[in-house]
Order: sequence, then C-alpha cells, then structure tokens
Amino acid sequence: MANKTDIDYSYSTMDQVWRLSVGEMADFTGAKYDGDFSLSLEAAQRNKHAFIAEHLHVGPGSKVLDMGCGWGPFLNYLRQIGAKGTGLVLSEGQYASCRRQGFEVYIKDCRTVTPADYGTFDAVVSVGAFEHFCSMEDYKAGKQDQVYNQFFKTVSDLLPPGGRCFIQTMVFDKGMIELDAIDINADKDSDEYLMALVVNEFPGSWLPYGKEQIIKNAEPYFKLVNHHSGKVDYIETIKVWRRRLKSFGLQKYLAYLSLTPQFLVDPKLRNRLKNLQIAPIRVAFEKGIWDHFRLVFEKR
Ligand SMILES: C[S@@+](CC[C@H](N)C(=O)[O-])C[C@H]1O[C@@H](n2cnc3c(N)ncnc32)[C@H](O)[C@@H]1O
Repeated sequence: MANKTDIDYSYSTMDQVWRLSVGEMADFTGAKYDGDFSLSLEAAQRNKHAFIAEHLHVGPGSKVLDMGCGWGPFLNYLRQIGAKGTGLVLSEGQYASCRRQGFEVYIKDCRTVTPADYGTFDAVVSVGAFEHFCSMEDYKAGKQDQVYNQFFKTVSDLLPPGGRCFIQTMVFDKGMIELDAIDINADKDSDEYLMALVVNEFPGSWLPYGKEQIIKNAEPYFKLVNHHSGKVDYIETIKVWRRRLKSFGLQKYLAYLSLTPQFLVDPKLRNRLKNLQIAPIRVAFEKGIWDHFRLVFEKR
C-alpha cells in the first residue's frame, strides 16, 4: 500500500496550489460528463455525486463512509442532501482542509477500519483511492489479489446484507508495460518514460489489472450491480484541471513559488514539473495503457 509518507508526497505537497486552482472542496478524480463536454467541471462532478448517491440508495439520514475522501467533495454533497458522512484520509493537508470545512474526518488507513472504530454504515464510497491500496512491493510479492480480497472483506464487515459500495478507480489496460521496464532515463516518447513520470508522482501505488481483477476479489462478498468506463470523462477532466492549474492567480503563483526550496533539493519533485507539461495519465489513457471504471457492488 502507498503509506502516509507516499500519500503526503502525492497530495499534501500540492495541497494549497490544488485548492487555489480547482476549489476548496474540489474533487481530485474524474468527473461524469456522460459525453457532454459543454458542462462545467463542477456540474460534471455533481453528476458523479448524484450517480453515486442514487446507486447506493443514499438519502437524508443515511450514514456513509468515504474511504479516501480527499478535500471532501463527496462529504460536502452528503451534507447538502442531509446524509451523515464520515471521511478517512492519509494526507495531512487534506485532513486539515476537511476539518476546516467542519467534516468528520480521520487520518486512518481505510483498509484497516473495523466496526469497532466508527460503527457500521449504510453505504461505503471510495472514489480514486483504490489505486493506492496495492504497492509495487505487494505486486512483486504476488500479493495483489490478497490485498484486494482483504479490502472487500473490510468493506463487507462495515455494511448490512444488501448494503452497497461504490468504487471508482483507474486500472491497467492491455497496453501496460512490465514494471521492471519503467525507466525515467528512457526515451522521452516511450511508454517506459511515461510510466516513470506517473510512478514518480504516485510512489507506493500499483493499479489493478482491468476491472476483472477487482470484480473477482469482490466476488466472495459482493455482487456487481452496475459498471461503466469513465475513461473519456477522465481525459476531459484532466484537460480542465491543467488549464486551471496554469491560469494566473497571485496567491496560487505565490504557492507555487513557496515550493522552490523543496524543488531545489528534491529531484523527484523536479520531475513532477514535467507532469504539468505532459499530463502522463491523460496520455496513458489515450494510448490504451490505462482505463478507468466506476463500479457499484451490493453485499451478498
Ligand atoms: C485521488 S484522491 C481522491 C480523493 C477524493 N475521493 C476525490 O474524489 O476527490 C485519493 C485519496 O485517497 C486517500 N487515500 C489513499 N490511500 C488511502 C488509505 N489507505 N486510507 C485512507 N485514505 C487513503 C488519499 O489521502 C486521497 O485523499
């Protein structure tokens, strides 16, 4: 699993820049445009929230656990519809931001949560955190299925029979290369270099191989009731993010500048600058290296 240091590196470093670019409680995951790219990013994110709530049968009074809640976008939606959200997160920056917004959030590895921690829930949501549950080391040790199977057992223990769980995650597609081939010194046009940029931004994380690996490991506890690819929507989301990350704002540019000392001493952080130019995740989607799915499960 990506540990707290990895997650802080990925999310807390850019905490202020991100919030100033996209919004205080912005989603850091693909929106749901359903092919209508005339929608604003905010409207498409709200579509996603509404889809999740509808398919999880969440309404006023529902008790919902958000595993990997980020800056709290879905917790905010739950608050607006009168449901009770609890969020778990590993990034200090995201935790502090959620607390400022008055959300009930804890720094806690969601893969280890039990009913003894915060009780049981009517529904569980995990939007864009599944990507971090299996590390490269777990994968190399042949433990990937075990990690996912254990995760679904953890979720199942938190739900009543018939309770629902929503997972949104990126997955490897057919074009994925071997882990050992990933190389930051490879040719700049190669998949080996592209994947090295992604790994550099999200250390400690390794994706599932297709939606099939997720469904297989959920199977002992959950049946799949709805699924679709969100890849095209994610490509559009990334395009909008990039415009917003680059657009001028004095406070935002000062936030970028405040990162200078870290950039000077940390080559990994310097490599992350290249992600702003190349958008490697978008390219990985376009090249068929990655795909993206939204999956709704129901407890057996
Ligand atoms: C891509 S962000 C998505 C955040 C949010 N769900 C959204 O849609 O904007 C991934 C989130 O997962 C959290 N995360 C990753 N691994 C986690 C773990 N094992 N336990 C709790 N949170 C985790 C990170 O802190 C981060 O908030």
